[in-house]
Amino acid sequence: MHKSAGHDSWMDTGIAKDTWDRLARQNVMYFIASNRSDWTEDDFFETGRETASRLLRQIRPRTGAGTSMCDVGCGVGRLAFAFAPHFEWVVGLDVSPEMIKRAGCVQKKHGVTNTQFLVSNGADLREIPDSSQDLVVSHLVFLHLASRQLIKCYLQEFSRVLKTGATAFFDLSVVPEGTTGKILYGMKEVRDPLYRGIYLLFGPSLGTRSPAVRGKRVTLRWLKTALEEAKLDLVVINLPDNWTESALTQVVCRKL
Ligand SMILES: C[S@@+](CC[C@H](N)C(=O)[O-])C[C@H]1O[C@@H](n2cnc3c(N)ncnc32)[C@H](O)[C@@H]1O
Repeated sequence: MHKSAGHDSWMDTGIAKDTWDRLARQNVMYFIASNRSDWTEDDFFETGRETASRLLRQIRPRTGAGTSMCDVGCGVGRLAFAFAPHFEWVVGLDVSPEMIKRAGCVQKKHGVTNTQFLVSNGADLREIPDSSQDLVVSHLVFLHLASRQLIKCYLQEFSRVLKTGATAFFDLSVVPEGTTGKILYGMKEVRDPLYRGIYLLFGPSLGTRSPAVRGKRVTLRWLKTALEEAKLDLVVINLPDNWTESALTQVVCRKL
């Protein structure tokens, strides 16, 4: 039986919905994968296939008949479609109805029959039953979440929906250890309330300066505690060698 992880603040999830709906209408492939501005649909979805095959090699989840995976913050389904040939059933969830509408169009266009795309509340995975998933993936999502509480809720939900021993992959912005990390963390903490205030004045027209794109940074200690509280075992963590604004830490964890 699902018990909601219980974080549903408009300041976090409402802003995310409005912001990402707007970005999806403006230039969906660019705002999902901003390393290129002239994506063709083929090239864009090819990057999903590359990421999915790398993760399948690295994680080695159970695949094939009787298996399920879910893609949290799926956007237009770049990864969900790439994982679909490997699992019996794939569910993509996203807080943005516009993203989900577009994922549905791609699904129809290519006649994919084992994927389902759902608009979520942006805070939990209540649509997914307990202990039902062989893999959970959330790529380029956690770095955008507007509160650490939301990250915690999702980790607890990953733990709830994963089968015992199954894994989850996500990436996020972890500040380096030591003084540099403390400064980077502190600077952002000071600026975040300012951006929230500006959002209240200008709304989603803030674009990528919205709190739902700027996201939150975490410390390694915070992340380890959050995983422990969610009963997820840390399997692999790739901390970037050189920290930059866009440097991401990749995490693989296993349901105990
Ligand atoms: C940069 S895009 C990545 C999309 C997809 N994971 C990919 O790699 O192609 C971030 C996605 O996260 C979704 N998102 C943002 N906040 C969310 C939340 N709180 N819950 C679920 N999805 C969220 C956005 O709507 C957007 O589709």
